[in-house]
Amino acid sequence: MLFDTHAHLNDEKFAEDLPQVVERAVQAGVTRVANIGFDVPSSVLAVKIAKQYPGMYAVIGVHPHDAKTLNKEALFKLEILAREPQVVAVGEIGLDYYYDLSPREVQKKAFREQIHLAKELKKPVVIHDRDAHSDTMEILKEEKAGEYRGIIHCFSGSWEMARQCMFLGFYIALGGPVTFANANKLLDIARLVPLDRLLIETDSPYLSPHPFRGKRNEPARVRQVAEKIAELRGIPLGDLIAATTNNALEIYGIKEN
Ligand code: NI
Repeated sequence: MLFDTHAHLNDEKFAEDLPQVVERAVQAGVTRVANIGFDVPSSVLAVKIAKQYPGMYAVIGVHPHDAKTLNKEALFKLEILAREPQVVAVGEIGLDYYYDLSPREVQKKAFREQIHLAKELKKPVVIHDRDAHSDTMEILKEEKAGEYRGIIHCFSGSWEMARQCMFLGFYIALGGPVTFANANKLLDIARLVPLDRLLIETDSPYLSPHPFRGKRNEPARVRQVAEKIAELRGIPLGDLIAATTNNALEIYGIKEN
C-alpha cells in the first residue's frame, strides 16, 4: 500500500471531483494521503477532508508564497487547528526565491515563526525550498527545526545538502520530477538516499510524473514515482513501497490499526 506524503486535495482544482480522485487513488493502492495546507483556509479544508475519508491526514501551515498572510491571528488559528487528531505535521513552510511572491524577509519571519509553532506542538515540519537552499539550511540549523524531525518536500538540492538535511533529522521526499527527462542530479539523490530516509509524494495538483507531465496530478500517480525510484535503485517495487510507507507512518506518527 502506497502513502502519498504530499498532496493538495484541498486545492480548488479538486473541488468538482474529489470523491472520484480518492477512489482512483484507492484503486491504485494509494491508501494514505497527507493533504498539505498552504494558507489558513486550505489548512482548515485539509482537516475537513481528513475527517471525511479514511487514510487521509492533514498538515497545516502557511506556504512561503502566502507568508505575508501569517499574522498573529493566523498563527493562533493554526495553533487551535493543530489540536485536531488528523493533523500530523506543520507545513508546508519554507522559502521560495523562484517566485518571490512574498518579500524574502517576510518569508524568513513566517518560516521561523512556524518552526517555533511546530516545536511547541512537538510535531514534525514539512519544508518547501525552491531556489533558496543556503537560507533554508541556515534557518533549519539555527532553529534546530529537525528536533521533532521533518520532511524536505520535493527535494531539489545536491547530495551534500541531502546529507546535511538527514544529519539534522530530515527525511527526503521525491515526486514527479524524478521521472522527467531532465532529472539529472535528482537521479543520484533517488539512488543514494538510504531507504529508511526516503519518502514519495505527488504534490498534486502539480508536478505530474511522466507520461502525464503538464496534466493535473493526483495521488494515484505516486505509483509512477515509486516505480521509477525502484528501477533506479534496482530493487523490487514491493520493497520500495514497503519502506517508504513505513517511513511515512513513522515521520507522521501514525499508529497502524
Ligand atoms: Ni506542495
